[in-house]
Amino acid sequence: MARIIDSTQHKAQAISEAVRLLGSGQLVAIPTETVYGLAADATNAAAIALIYEVKGRPRFNPLICHMADLAMAEHYAIFDPLSLKLAKAFWPGPLTLVLPLRLDGSIHPLASAGLECIGIRVPQGFAGRLIAAFGRPLAAPSANLSGKISPTTAAHVAVDLGEAIELIIDGGPADIGVESTIVKVEGGRVRLLRPGGLCVKDIEDRLGVSVERNRSQSIEAPGMLASHYAPDARLRLNVESVGPDEVLINFGNRAIDGAQNARAAFDLSPSGDLHEAAANLFSTLKQADQLGAKVIAIAPIPGHNLGEAIHDRLLRASAPRDEMP
Ligand code: TXA
Ligand code: MG
Repeated sequence: MARIIDSTQHKAQAISEAVRLLGSGQLVAIPTETVYGLAADATNAAAIALIYEVKGRPRFNPLICHMADLAMAEHYAIFDPLSLKLAKAFWPGPLTLVLPLRLDGSIHPLASAGLECIGIRVPQGFAGRLIAAFGRPLAAPSANLSGKISPTTAAHVAVDLGEAIELIIDGGPADIGVESTIVKVEGGRVRLLRPGGLCVKDIEDRLGVSVERNRSQSIEAPGMLASHYAPDARLRLNVESVGPDEVLINFGNRAIDGAQNARAAFDLSPSGDLHEAAANLFSTLKQADQLGAKVIAIAPIPGHNLGEAIHDRLLRASAPRDEMP
C-alpha cells in the first residue's frame, strides 16, 4: 500500500521524497488545485509508460505536462501571442494550453502520444513548488483508473491506485474539484477542447475575443471519450422527482418530489454556489455510487460559469458504457 505524506504538515519531506522517487522513474500522486494527478518525469519514457500501465489508459491519449512557471513552459513549447496572454493572465491556475512542441525540448513523445502539440499547465501551490524543486516537467493525468471518476482527495487516489504506487502526497481536498479548462489557439481563434475549472467567460473577458466551443469528440482532445467518469450506477439528469430506490444529488436545496423517500439525498451546494458544487461533484458522485443504488438522480444545475464543466462531466458520467475505453 502507498505511503501517504501530508504536505500541509510536512511540506519539505513531501517534496524531497517525491523528488527522489520521480528522479528514479517512479510515479507519485500529487495534489493540484483541480484534481489529484499521477505524476511522472515527462522526459523519462519508462516512467510515462508506467502511467499508462497503472491507469489502464489507452495509449493514444496524450498527457498534460505540468510546468513550474511560464519560463519552463517556453522552453518546451512555442507560444503565439494569444496563448502567451492567457498564460500570463491565468497561470498558475486551472488552464491547460495546447501548443506546438519545441523539437529541441526533451519531453518524451510518449507524453504527447506522438502529437506535434503538447498540453501544458502551470499548477498552483504544492504541485508548482514540487516541479520547481524537481527541475523538469511532470506528465500527470488525473490519478484515477482510466474511465473512472477523478480523485479530489488522497483517499480517493488510494482506493484506485494505492496498491500500484509507492507515494501519495495528501494536500487536502482539491480546491476546484474539476479538471483544468483546455484551450487551443489556432490562426488567432481560441477553441475550447474541454470545459473545466476556469470559466470560459473569464477567458473571453480577458482576451476580448469569443471562445469557440468544440463539441465534436474528435482527436483534438483524444481523452474526451464520450463515456468517462463512469460510476457503477446509471445517472438520470435534470430530475424534478426521485424514486424510493434512487439516490438524489440535489443543487441549491431545490424542492424535488419524493426527496424525503429517496434512498439517500445529497446537495452539491445548498446555497446554490457553483464553485462549491464543482468542488463537491466527484466526491459526492463516489459517495452516492457507494450506496449501491442502480440510479443516481441529479437535480437541474445551471450551465453558466463553472456549471459548464459540471454539465460536461455529468453528461460523460451518464453516457452509454459501450464507448468505454
Ligand atoms: O486539471 C487537470 O487538467 C488534471 C490535473 C492533474 O492537472 N489533469 C487531467 O489530465 O485532467 P487527464 O490526462 O485526465 O486529461 C487530459 C486531457 C485529455 O483529455 C487529453 O486528451 C487532453 O488533455 N490533452 C492532453 N494533451 C493534449 C494534446 N497535445 N492535444 C490535445 N489534447 C490533449
Ligand atoms: Mg482524467
